Amino acid sequence: MQVVRTRADLRAVLAGARRPVGLVPTMGWLHAGHVSLVERARAESATVVMSIFVNPRQFGEARDFEQYPRNEARDLAMAEAAGVDVVFAPGVEEVYPPGFDTVVSVGAIARPLEGAARPGHFDGVATVVAILFALVGAERAYFGAKDYQQVAVIRRMALDLALPTEVVPCPTVREPDGLALSSRNARLSADGRARAAVLHRALTVGGDRIRAGERSADAVREAVARVLGEEAAASVDYVSAADPDTLAELHEIDGRALLSLAVRIEGVRLIDNELVG
Ligand code: PAF
Repeated sequence: MQVVRTRADLRAVLAGARRPVGLVPTMGWLHAGHVSLVERARAESATVVMSIFVNPRQFGEARDFEQYPRNEARDLAMAEAAGVDVVFAPGVEEVYPPGFDTVVSVGAIARPLEGAARPGHFDGVATVVAILFALVGAERAYFGAKDYQQVAVIRRMALDLALPTEVVPCPTVREPDGLALSSRNARLSADGRARAAVLHRALTVGGDRIRAGERSADAVREAVARVLGEEAAASVDYVSAADPDTLAELHEIDGRALLSLAVRIEGVRLIDNELVG
């Protein structure tokens, strides 16, 4: 496995790479969810590239960026064991060189949910992913479905900017109690970690209501919120039942819905979703 830190070295290494190339963009602190992305990329690509870059432009609060867990040595060992060929682990200046002054800003799909809760977040994501897509020129890039809206934003961006990389969403990997794997889980205490299972429990209750024939989106949102309300440690940011294509909130559910939520536990902001129908 080669580790490169500059745009120039990445381009040089990839110039002779066997194709197709699969890209797994990450912010490090790798877990089994990232490994599942690498496995999928490995199965479909001759060369697997992983980027490890904690992107300051997608964090609203400086504290959130500073507290984001980091351990490069551990990440590199995991990446190598998972079958990555090339790791791109640049410094901030290499991704955003002096004078950098461009923002990729996606429209309507980036506005609700995470976009409303975290102003500027998706501009930061779209900008860094556009740079990564341009640098790597991969045939495919792999993203976790836990960040459903992120996948939708990146898809829109790649389509609109005619970037040739296909965006491949991969299933959320969960702990046995249903908690979606996330690098942020590492910031929870053992008690908070156990309480965080309420996110998936609440989504399952909402999904079950829809599967049982409930058509009122309000009733579903209320059912999800009620479960979250039973967990005193959970402070709810939003509960949503939205159209899976537009992410607009639904009034009536006609089979398909994206249930999603954002909740803080011990100050750690966790998100999850379930696509129903
Ligand atoms: O999902 C993430 O880890 C990040 O948002 C991404 C896609 C690597 C961009 O920084």
